[in-house]
Amino acid sequence: MNPSPAPQYTWAGRFSEPVSDLVKRYTASIAFDQRLWRHDMQGSLAHARMLARQGIIGARDLEDIERGMAIIRQEIENGQFQWSVDLEDVHFNLEKRLTALIGDAGKRLHTGRSRNDQIATDIRLYLRDGIDGILALLAVFQAALIALAEREAATPMPGFTHLQVAQPVTFGHHLLAYFEMFLRDGERFVDCRRRVNRLPLGAAALAGTSYPIDRAFVAAELGFEAVCENSIDAVSDRDFAIEFCAACALFMTHVSRLSEELALWMNPRVGFIRLADRFCTGSSIMPQKKNPDVPELARGKTGRVQGDLVALLTLMKAQPLAYNKDNQEDKEPVFDALDTVTDTLRIFADMLAGGIRVRADAMREALRQGFATATDLADYLARKGVPFRDAHAIVGAAVKAAEQKGVDLPELTLAELQAFSPLIERDVFAALTVEGSLAARDHVGGTAPDQVRAAAARARQRLEPFKPPPAAAAA
Ligand code: ARG
Repeated sequence: MNPSPAPQYTWAGRFSEPVSDLVKRYTASIAFDQRLWRHDMQGSLAHARMLARQGIIGARDLEDIERGMAIIRQEIENGQFQWSVDLEDVHFNLEKRLTALIGDAGKRLHTGRSRNDQIATDIRLYLRDGIDGILALLAVFQAALIALAEREAATPMPGFTHLQVAQPVTFGHHLLAYFEMFLRDGERFVDCRRRVNRLPLGAAALAGTSYPIDRAFVAAELGFEAVCENSIDAVSDRDFAIEFCAACALFMTHVSRLSEELALWMNPRVGFIRLADRFCTGSSIMPQKKNPDVPELARGKTGRVQGDLVALLTLMKAQPLAYNKDNQEDKEPVFDALDTVTDTLRIFADMLAGGIRVRADAMREALRQGFATATDLADYLARKGVPFRDAHAIVGAAVKAAEQKGVDLPELTLAELQAFSPLIERDVFAALTVEGSLAARDHVGGTAPDQVRAAAARARQRLEPFKPPPAAAAA
């Protein structure tokens, strides 16, 4: 960024002294809104085409604008463009250069437009692309999750409540719980995209414009589904950005829960999984350490994305209509949420696709230690006519005895079990095994391995609508 000696503010006409360097830096957004340049250009070109079509600017003006923009695009892509903090933001930087390149036509571009509807348009265009990117990555991540779940559809592990061993589940079943969370996240991003995809241009500063504009044409040019209906709302609304950050925050909350489990599972005391070295780092002092840095950081970054959401909600809560400069502060939280979610998805897709080694033996060993099939014994007695509450009490006593003896329930002898209820017969051992317990939960949403396989197959179908069209995926 190179400050020019004599800033020529576009709005300087009614001012008698320049702003201080500090104020300049304080009010400028170029440091972070630079990244909107493609979308700013896209919006400007659509606006210029509409102006020419409506006879508001000449056909030659449009040709000049298109030619100038093509040059600027080259300059930026080649890293030759001189961004200037004196020119405040991305809009003025591009417009100034355009005017330097093509003269008066560059000055005509801003006819019937304000930076207020311009920035609202830019951020919507940018976010629309961002959401499409997230959805594409989410589909890849989810496909990896389903594949892993399918592979582990019959792998028993302890299911936990209160972080205590509760009942046997399969690892695949456990993973598919996350599929549900992330599928809802996908739905939220799709839903949010609909409200992002509306055109503010035409609102100008806030009241609309006196030129005979054609907003529907601009909307169609830019692929917006509709125009923002009210000019005052068009320039002041940032609900779509809040919704986006809310969707990101909830997505990260889900990632954070998964991360917490990954870190727990790879603790040597638990040892359910091994995480590939490329997702871990070591310690500077303890040579033996391998730390689950990626899950930990994802858990930590959840805090910043939740912060992004709170920042935007607070930004908007006391804003009077219509546009206020406060809105310039919407960009960094939105970009931060977008960047964090995008990177997190990339890494986690890779991690699930081959970064996790499942240690079925450790899962089974943990199951042996928590009386995980106690409920199955109670159900067995209930099936034989014992009221469930009584069965619960009988099994409680059996667990206590097994605990004292230092064995699991199926390791008690038939005679020992029968001391708790004469209804217990030899077939009890089928119910007390982990496999028997799993197979018994044979309904939609249950953990029986066949049900988990069927759920994985359905998950693949349910993911289909979220996959980008092949062309977009290749781009
Ligand atoms: N940089 C501004 C933003 O990010 C652009 C709009 C400025 N409009 C204004 N009237 N100052 O919101």
